[in-house]
Amino acid sequence: AIDISKLRDQSEFITLDPGYKNTGATKSAITYLDGENGILHYRGYPIEQLAEKCLFLEVAYLLIYGELPTKQELESFRAEIKEQTLIHEDMKNFFAGFPSQSHPMGQLSCLVGALSAFYPESLNPNATKEEDNKTMINLLAKMPTIVSWIHKKSIGHPIVYPKKDLNYVENFMNMLFSDVTAESSFDPAIISAMQKLLILHADHEQNCSTSTVRMVGSSNANLYASIASGINALWGPLHGGANQAVIEMLEAIKEDGGDADKYLAKAKDKNDPFRLMGFGHRVYKNFDPRAKIIKKACDDILEKLGIDDPVLDIAIRLEEAALNDQYFIDRKLYPNVDFYSGIIYRALNFKPEMFTVLFALGRLPGWIAQWKEMRENKEPIGRPRQVYTGETKRDVVDIEKR
Ligand code: ACO
Repeated sequence: AIDISKLRDQSEFITLDPGYKNTGATKSAITYLDGENGILHYRGYPIEQLAEKCLFLEVAYLLIYGELPTKQELESFRAEIKEQTLIHEDMKNFFAGFPSQSHPMGQLSCLVGALSAFYPESLNPNATKEEDNKTMINLLAKMPTIVSWIHKKSIGHPIVYPKKDLNYVENFMNMLFSDVTAESSFDPAIISAMQKLLILHADHEQNCSTSTVRMVGSSNANLYASIASGINALWGPLHGGANQAVIEMLEAIKEDGGDADKYLAKAKDKNDPFRLMGFGHRVYKNFDPRAKIIKKACDDILEKLGIDDPVLDIAIRLEEAALNDQYFIDRKLYPNVDFYSGIIYRALNFKPEMFTVLFALGRLPGWIAQWKEMRENKEPIGRPRQVYTGETKRDVVDIEKR
């Protein structure tokens, strides 16, 4: 990488790189990604090991603080989070105004942004590390509660309050799927699948939503505002919204007779805007290592729950067909993390509109870690340049004469 950040006369030297395909925006010590070889590490630890051996909260701690926690550190982290899981009752007032079928991602970004109104201390750009830490813990604690509100509203059920005797993921699942009185009793396989999915989504270096979080944060905007912006960036179907789009695509293929080849042909046709959702990645030019883990988790959970999902067969057929097709081979288009995650979410009873929200919950520790790193490194405000292609100077003609 060539470092041009110290160039004095910057107006003389502008690099043009639409989509930032070859431009590094920052130095970061959080996530290592080798797209050619399909390698992903968080803080040096391979994603495969983290998904196999850790809880989501351990990984969150690792991303944010740089090291895996000891048992004691994990306990105090967990205790701090448990203290903050309740949400101010006044938040319910404007939450009540959302139509129940409005998209969960729109609700999520509004609710997360609104937290800044209830915690104005987060607005201080000169907050101490301890004060910033409180804000980070607050958001980690409240996000599952917010997500559960959105889910419950979409099915017309009353919300379930957080329970302190459950761990992070169990509490989340309990708020989503138990009714107000039920005791939580989730199959450990379900909790474990959820832990894995959240871990696999927890960070992915400078992707669209993370770059957004850093960009917004670079203006000294508070954490809630920065993460709300990241949530909006994640929503698009070319990014996190792909998980919803994948399941809708697979459903449509099923309804249309299940002919994978027909849709493969559509995806290759340059006159057809259709793309194979869940395929391709800006950085991975080899198998997405997360997709491999998710595919296995998908097989496991469907078998464990005794679910025979015809959509999985279509997904497998599509993957096989694409992997043997010259168009996909030439462009190095492999299934990405979103290709199989929706099938698991569906098996766990989530509606497709909730899939990207689950991605956001998983990505939260990564966004927080990246915002913290940006803040601690005192990075300059993000402000790209442009190459102007408009009119040269001209004079305004009076409106009667135009
Ligand atoms: N189906 C068909 N063709 C594709 C696909 C696809 N899913 N993805 C890329 N291509 C083709 C493009 O048409 C282009 O072909 P060309 O060279 O003949 O013009 C070539 O592959 C390169 O594609 P780009 O769009 O230039 O690649 P880019 O790196 O900009 O985009 C992206 C990456 C957005 C992920 C793209 O592959 C895509 O749209 N995939 C589907 C959506 C998706 O799954 N998104 C989730 C990504 S993972 C995540 O965000 C968590």
